[in-house]
Amino acid sequence: MLETEGWDDYALIDSGDGRKLERYGPYTVVRPEPQGMWTPRQPAEAWENADATFTGESDEDGAGRWRFPRTLPDTWRMNCDGVSFLGRFTSFRHVGVFPEQITHWRWMIERITSAGRPLRILNLFAYTGVASLLCARAGAEVTHIDASKKAIAWARENQTLSGLDHLPIRWICEDAMRFTGREIRRGNRYDGIILDPPKFGRGPKNETWDLYRDLPRLLSDCVELLEQKPAFIVLTAYSIRSSFLAIHEALAERLGDRGGLIESGELVLRETGGGRALSTSLFSRWTPDG
Ligand SMILES: C[S@@+](CC[C@H](N)C(=O)[O-])C[C@H]1O[C@@H](n2cnc3c(N)ncnc32)[C@H](O)[C@@H]1O
Repeated sequence: MLETEGWDDYALIDSGDGRKLERYGPYTVVRPEPQGMWTPRQPAEAWENADATFTGESDEDGAGRWRFPRTLPDTWRMNCDGVSFLGRFTSFRHVGVFPEQITHWRWMIERITSAGRPLRILNLFAYTGVASLLCARAGAEVTHIDASKKAIAWARENQTLSGLDHLPIRWICEDAMRFTGREIRRGNRYDGIILDPPKFGRGPKNETWDLYRDLPRLLSDCVELLEQKPAFIVLTAYSIRSSFLAIHEALAERLGDRGGLIESGELVLRETGGGRALSTSLFSRWTPDG
């Protein structure tokens, strides 16, 4: 388990009764959490007085809506390890950052800063760009791929907000697999690759992404895109009905006889004060010098 008990602008305050209570910057937020099969520990008022509550299906894909007891701004600023980004209440129930990713971010930053040269990092399904910004700030040249124009625009807002407009980040709105196929043909290579694919997705030209069908080919592409002396691959998968062993074995097979170390497991949020652990996703990550 790679776990975090939160950071300056994030805390998992409580969970239970199928929901979780979190703090994103100054705001407390309640959202469905089917894994919270236990009893909340905070008093009912802590939940009732939340600044924002998302009600709806417990399933990630399900519909729902936000309720705000008082008017909140459309966006707000949060910070993590020297990078700033905007929170925003989206119709998909997310707020623009996946806080459990911090353990991956710090692991990658260590590798980037100790490399002694600017690493080339490819970030696929890159969303609002927090990982892209942290990698660039650590000295990497980053290629950021996402199929959503809105997500790219949000990521660029985050770059400006962080005061990092001068750093080398290529923002590209494209289907992840179309991009990797093209990069292979062009002979471009990367030192580190980050992939955070959803279960299902769509490219800008209506290409379909289905994790079970497409992940093996995408992983093959990623391995082919690695430089001679690469630094890492970091894969995270959300909301899929699988064990981490599935993505571990898929990655291991694609890496073949490259050696190194593959670590696989779950990304976990720990309630403030050493409380209960909530699994958010599966991960598998590789480094050649493990
Ligand atoms: C952050 S990841 C998914 C992780 C998230 N926890 C989830 O499952 O909801 C989602 C990102 O992948 C992007 N995306 C979806 N399909 C894509 C595709 N075919 N190619 C590139 N990006 C895609 C989306 O626009 C979104 O920004």
